[in-house]
Amino acid sequence: MTTHNRKGGATMANNDRFRVQGGARLHGEVHITGAKNSVLKLMAASLLAPGTSTITNVPDIADVDIMADLLTRLGCSVHRNGSEISISVPDKPGHRADYDLVRKMRASINVLGPLVARTGQAEVALPGGDAIGSRGLDFHIKGLEALGAKAHIEHGYVIAEAPSGLMGATIELDFPSVGATENIMTAAVLAQGRTTIDNAAREPDIVDLGEFLIAMGAKISGLGSPIITIEGVKKLSPTTHATIADRIITGTWAFAAVMTQGDITIHGARPQDLEIPLEKLTSAGAIITSTDDGIRVRMDSRPQSIDVSTLPYPGFPTDLLPMVIALNSIATGDAIVTENVFESRFMFVNELTRLGAQITVDGHHASIHGISQLSGAPVEATDIRAGAGLVLAALVSEGETTIDGAFHVDRGYPNFAEQLRALGADVVRE
Ligand code: UD1
Repeated sequence: MTTHNRKGGATMANNDRFRVQGGARLHGEVHITGAKNSVLKLMAASLLAPGTSTITNVPDIADVDIMADLLTRLGCSVHRNGSEISISVPDKPGHRADYDLVRKMRASINVLGPLVARTGQAEVALPGGDAIGSRGLDFHIKGLEALGAKAHIEHGYVIAEAPSGLMGATIELDFPSVGATENIMTAAVLAQGRTTIDNAAREPDIVDLGEFLIAMGAKISGLGSPIITIEGVKKLSPTTHATIADRIITGTWAFAAVMTQGDITIHGARPQDLEIPLEKLTSAGAIITSTDDGIRVRMDSRPQSIDVSTLPYPGFPTDLLPMVIALNSIATGDAIVTENVFESRFMFVNELTRLGAQITVDGHHASIHGISQLSGAPVEATDIRAGAGLVLAALVSEGETTIDGAFHVDRGYPNFAEQLRALGADVVRE
């Protein structure tokens, strides 16, 4: 049974919006909860061991509800108690992840690896999620094929079969895809023999997932490096694991502090996961100091522009691209921001120009001329991070901005409006 009647959850009306009166300097404290991009993968990976796994530090976001529904559909019992979620996995889970759930969220594809490894077959609808680019699955499919599965796409589903189990292999990824690294890892842990993933993704979320798998009994080395080695084991056991802190939310608060010339103490932040964004904010003029359990970000002048190129970790995260474009829109000077991961991230630039931002997009480069103040207008969120970036831009806009599509933001930011209000912003959700 799932217990998720959370306010602001997946069932909330899709026409909710944020209404923001600009001008406040954000001031105060926030607490970082577990990372969306980690907890969803931990939940999917719990399928690998029959019995009850428990995940703690679970954020109160809509995507957790969707993954809980998906696991329930696969025969698991999912119980949520505050920030803890326990997932009881049957001896024989189902193998089909239907379109109605999968289309809501890209991370649904993460059940593919565990299902093939556990049941020898998987049918997973092609995922939806954010409108930020084409987001192919070829690396996932090639990876499973290298492990001995037969995989293809038919009628909108990825169908993978390995009736006699998977065999370890050496797999070189053309690009360090986060999702493909995760699916290969969660399939290879139960394969026979050794798997090496070359050019693996190095994101902290990958390390978190790997540590969860190790706690379940998997043999994995090289986490956080471009070469991950996995010695397959016959069986995994359920475990308890705390989700890593959300570096993208941490980064969002850090940008909010700098843009509004505020002062935010971010408890639970892991600055080691955000070295490049924090360096960039320092060069924009921010004063960033370590605290006992996180960081404090202060700013007392208009930020200076910063040039940024997004890259796979440890590079500047693509998920903070809207924030860096928003910051440059009100910075002194001109900036060039280059997107190297998703081709359609710039979709939200049209919305930002409605606030008066001066941005020209040419291919995967955006040139931004900073102006002293944006002016409030109605805009629309096109994805989670674009939504958060637009809210930050609204905070530094003169007058009122409404941001439609608040449900996008719910997918990744727990209680965003409440947290902003606690920091002194004039934000309501309606
Ligand atoms: C994850 C994150 C997302 C983040 C991204 C990059 C989740 C749920 N989402 O997305 O927030 O922005 O990492 O840090 O964790 N690609 C292919 N073929 C494939 C797989 C990927 O061409 O088989 C391409 C994608 O289209 C994209 C790039 O590789 O251009 C990176 O994608 P990937 O790293 O796989 O991102 P996701 O795991 O989808």
